[in-house]
Amino acid sequence: MEGLDALKISEEKKKYIVDNLNPLLEEMVAECIHRMPDDPVPFMLEWLEDKKVTDENKLLAPEEKERLEAENKGLEAEIAKVKSQLQEASKMAAVQQQPEEEEEEEDDEDDEPPPDFGKPQPSRARTSVSAEAYGEWNTKKTFVPPVITKTDEQKDRLKATLTNSFMFANLEPNDLNIVIGAMKEVQVAVDSCVINQGEQGDFLFVIESGKFDCIKDDVVVKTCQTNDVFGELALLYNCPRAATVKSKEQGVLWQLDRETFNAIVKEAAQKKRQRYDAFLAKVPLLSSMDAYERSQLADALRSESFGDGQVIVSMGENGQKFYIIEEGQAVATKNGNQVMSYGVGDYFGELALIRNQPRAATVTCKGSAKMLSIDKASFHRLLKVNDLLERSSKYS
Ligand code: CMP
Ligand code: CMP
Repeated sequence: MEGLDALKISEEKKKYIVDNLNPLLEEMVAECIHRMPDDPVPFMLEWLEDKKVTDENKLLAPEEKERLEAENKGLEAEIAKVKSQLQEASKMAAVQQQPEEEEEEEDDEDDEPPPDFGKPQPSRARTSVSAEAYGEWNTKKTFVPPVITKTDEQKDRLKATLTNSFMFANLEPNDLNIVIGAMKEVQVAVDSCVINQGEQGDFLFVIESGKFDCIKDDVVVKTCQTNDVFGELALLYNCPRAATVKSKEQGVLWQLDRETFNAIVKEAAQKKRQRYDAFLAKVPLLSSMDAYERSQLADALRSESFGDGQVIVSMGENGQKFYIIEEGQAVATKNGNQVMSYGVGDYFGELALIRNQPRAATVTCKGSAKMLSIDKASFHRLLKVNDLLERSSKYS
């Protein structure tokens, strides 16, 4: 203030400096001294811009804030849509640019098991999902899927494996071709560790043949077999490997890289797991399942719609599916008499699968309803059949 007094300017200007300029400049200079940027000018410009936005925000009425936030969300969704369209376009372009005759070897050690099989890949920034998304959007790289040369015989084997694997079975033909092109065959000897718990991972695997133990903290938590997928968690959630996976016998795997998985398979796989997880967690029959078991079940589910009065299973018929009611109601009848009524979260159709006998009752829809169905093989592998057998003593 001493210096100010000496200035030959009006009192009004002095007041303006004291009230308006000084607090702002002091704050900015303090921040600049604290951060010591190499070039203070852009730093200060950015600081002022941020300050302006923060101050304006404070002045906004709550409704206006809400409106702007909604507008922002809309814009973000628009960006995401454009981004996915770009990705789609680049996939198409890549496919068109790489007809099969001109396939490039992505890796010249194609016929041998890679030396780094199951080991973490050289470090790549994988700090968080948002960092990954930012990187993708901001920098580079339209996704160009790897194309690994295969014989027709290999392609046929791979196609058969993928079309019977829940995670890949519903891919569009074009996407399926890209995945087939990108996958790499890996021959595995008995007792080989394909994945090590705690390591970083950049591949998932689909089993063509062989049995593989998933071992978590020295306990075998699951044994995977033909058409099963493992190694997907590290890719879905950007986390270290949740279990060690070791071959129990000689086998054949197909390995898919993280980028192709992210671009083509991840979204649908994640959506399906998320869509059913909360529902399955509330189904009393499944209450003892852990999250991983529920995710496996979610992969195997099919949602089927039925109209009022429609018969879902018929007494005396051969049974191929087990059902859980997702929406609506149903009734079970035996020889015209109602023996059971069902609501959301209830199940039926287990007896024929457990006992290998014809359907013991007819189940009919009451109003329109949605059923989650599970095929016989998945039913036996993914559900605790003994629990169901115990519960079946309730039937008269
Ligand atoms: P990921 O974590 O990438 O690598 C180890 C894999 O083991 C994991 O993905 C799953 O595919 C598989 N796995 C099987 N059972 C389990 C389980 N109970 N918990 C976690 N992972 C499991
Ligand atoms: P499932 O025999 O596969 O197909 C018909 C289903 O009706 C049966 O399994 C049970 O889930 C269900 N159900 C309900 N009540 C009865 C009952 N009293 N006896 C047999 N099945 C019943």
